[in-house]
Amino acid sequence: MSPDKFHDPDFERHKAGKDNPEDYGHDLDRAPDSDPDAEPIPNPGLPEHTPRPTDVDERLERRAERQVAMLFLAAGLLSVLFCVAYFVFEPGIEGETFVGMGASNASLGLTLGLAMLLIGIGAIQWARKLMGDHELIEYRHGAPSSAEDREEALAAFRAGSRESGFGRRKLIRNSMLGSLALLGLPAVVLLRDLGPLPGRKLEHTVWKRGVRVVNDVTALPLRPEDLRIGQLVNAEPASFFEHEGPDGETVPAEYEGTELIIEKGKAAVIVVRMSPEEITPVSGRENWGIDGIVCYSKICTHVGCPISLWEQQTRLLLCPCHQSTFDLTDGARVTFGPAARALPQLPLMVDEEGYIVAMSDFEEPVGPSYWERG
Ligand code: FES
Repeated sequence: MSPDKFHDPDFERHKAGKDNPEDYGHDLDRAPDSDPDAEPIPNPGLPEHTPRPTDVDERLERRAERQVAMLFLAAGLLSVLFCVAYFVFEPGIEGETFVGMGASNASLGLTLGLAMLLIGIGAIQWARKLMGDHELIEYRHGAPSSAEDREEALAAFRAGSRESGFGRRKLIRNSMLGSLALLGLPAVVLLRDLGPLPGRKLEHTVWKRGVRVVNDVTALPLRPEDLRIGQLVNAEPASFFEHEGPDGETVPAEYEGTELIIEKGKAAVIVVRMSPEEITPVSGRENWGIDGIVCYSKICTHVGCPISLWEQQTRLLLCPCHQSTFDLTDGARVTFGPAARALPQLPLMVDEEGYIVAMSDFEEPVGPSYWERG
């Protein structure tokens, strides 16, 4: 549609070659070309206005309108496809490996990226081909603007709003608003990644009476004599590995895939041997160690980083994430850093064959301390 249809007085004057700076809120006396000495180069003025094809041909104008609307509709469709791709290309775990991450990332990135790109292209095409097209002269002037200028700015804004056709071109406006609204859908769908809620699963681990403590590198069950004073071993329950049963038979690993990863995240422990005289047992836990061997959760009680920075001389255990420090001679009490409570201790004993085993599960939840609140 041609801009003349707006009956914009500024535009009418411009078309008639009667541009006047005062029309745009400027004082003629201050116009640069009002003083020939101050303006050594003659003002070339505006080149002749050339109407765009969409200004003079209604057919082209309608086509441009449809093109812009199609871009916005395609963007909306891509937002919906993002949601579909989120469910279709859901990554999974095979064994201990994540699979399908590439397809998921590529499809989510492509659909969301293209949706935003098409909305941008649609807005640019709308402005280039269909919004008002006339040249303006703007003179520099002092700030702040006078009340009159501000009034004129408002009038210009209203004129711009009229010229953009935001109220009149309902097809474009509604398709653009629709595509912008659908762009919010991916954010809603992604909320699913925050769930499901863990319920009471965080309160228990796979440790139970009689489960052997296994070196997590060699997968061999530990005996007290395997540990020297000052030594720290990272360990896990035997049920994570293929192991020997009570009658010498081979018992397969009890967990695999996602379940194994989840349980590992809770059950990982560190086993340390110190001189029994160094240790001040917490009241009620006097029999939780074996001749100076104690076992604590490896999951930091601050926000859950795995800990095993062991200062052998000071008997302190450091978390690499925010430097929480735990004194293993004193019930893994926090001596420094943001952690709010001691590391949970796993009670130990020795089984009939001389291996170190758990006496029970932890008596409190492992990991960040907010879980057990309330
Ligand atoms: S996670 Fe260990 S100090 Fe923050």
